[in-house]
Amino acid sequence: MKHSEVIAVIGGQWGDEGKGKIVDYLATTADVVIRSQGGDNAGHTVINDHGKFGLHLVPAGIFNPRTLNIIGAGVALNPKTLMKEIAELTQRGVSFDNLVISPKSHLAFEYHRFIDSHQEAARGAKRIDTTKRGIGPTYMDKAERIGLHARMLLYPDRLLAELDDILASKRAKLGVDNEVLHADYYAEFVHEAAATLRPFIRDTEVLVEEHLHKGSRFVLEGAHGTLLDLDHGTYPMVTASNSTAGGLLVGAGMPPLALTKVIGIFKAYQTRVGAGGMPTELHDDLATTIRERGQEFGTTTGRPRRIGYFDGVAARYAHRLNGFTDIALTKVDTLADLGELKIATGYEDAAGAASQFQTEADLLANCHARYQTFPGWTTADLAGVTSYDALPESLKAYCAAITATMPGARLSFVGVGRSREQLIRL
Ligand code: IMP
Repeated sequence: MKHSEVIAVIGGQWGDEGKGKIVDYLATTADVVIRSQGGDNAGHTVINDHGKFGLHLVPAGIFNPRTLNIIGAGVALNPKTLMKEIAELTQRGVSFDNLVISPKSHLAFEYHRFIDSHQEAARGAKRIDTTKRGIGPTYMDKAERIGLHARMLLYPDRLLAELDDILASKRAKLGVDNEVLHADYYAEFVHEAAATLRPFIRDTEVLVEEHLHKGSRFVLEGAHGTLLDLDHGTYPMVTASNSTAGGLLVGAGMPPLALTKVIGIFKAYQTRVGAGGMPTELHDDLATTIRERGQEFGTTTGRPRRIGYFDGVAARYAHRLNGFTDIALTKVDTLADLGELKIATGYEDAAGAASQFQTEADLLANCHARYQTFPGWTTADLAGVTSYDALPESLKAYCAAITATMPGARLSFVGVGRSREQLIRL
């Protein structure tokens, strides 16, 4: 058996770290790219020779006709979103001959979105600020054992009959009625989705095993970020899947020992969408400037993201969970021309100095960051730079300080701009 290379690409923060750019780069030489958890609540922007794309469900390897792209069992699959994405990309010349959908992925429908919004409204002040894509309710159905597998698209009439039962019980439970809570609403759509998606539905584990034996190069494309992980994130302000390394392996149906590299993607500063504690959050003009310059508005929802200094305490926690072998630091260009910059190297809470990240909302809300200050860099310093050595010393010191928060990991990528060429490899 040849040795395969399996690279997991994981968001190290609260999502939106720029995973798309790294995955897109790695995908150019990957034999297999697997999206294994989350749903269309995730979104990343990819800019390559084909143009600019906002992907939500389609794996980033789709631009390489040689790469097998798998939507794994752990994904919450909204067929409508996927069909839209396939149609748009096909129109722009992208081939889907190499897409495979796990029959075990769970279907997310309009009623899941409806229930997501309904639950958010009912939560009032305790709302999670979800993306309202119905992802929580889809995974709830999965755990309740009333979810609908993508395999059911092979039997649309059976699927509709099941929907009839499921939706009757939803209406009774919720005590509300709406057209999306009736199977009729889906009759036409389910047949259309079945016709479009049927050719892609195929057992994925066999393909993964074959490629592992062949010594292929895999990229596991993580969605969301470590701090949004259902078990290890800032619960309850988290998403409904496991976005850490273990979750990617389960969702891909891959033996854990196959993993050879874990790349943690970190933005050079912190962002968060939705509610919850954020010890390094900025509320001044600096936040506005970074938000505008970094275009920190949700790919999926368009919501403005909260902005903060890089949180080294949170990074250390993410490293503990994922065991990063490599780090990619993105968007350092966004921080250019801002003068001195800070990195949180510790917290203080009511009891004094605190060195650990807290996932519990009240505890995290009471943590105040302690900072180390670094000299900044300018846009001119970054112009045309293609090697790490050519970066300004101030930026190298900033990168080194971030890397030092994650012992044993090495800095492998620094993103200095939006295009593929502006990704410096070390
Ligand atoms: P849900 O995933 O839509 O259920 O939302 C749960 C929480 O995760 C909310 O705070 C969302 O803003 C957040 N979230 C989910 N996906 C992403 C992402 O890709 N980037 C940033 N935040 C996300």
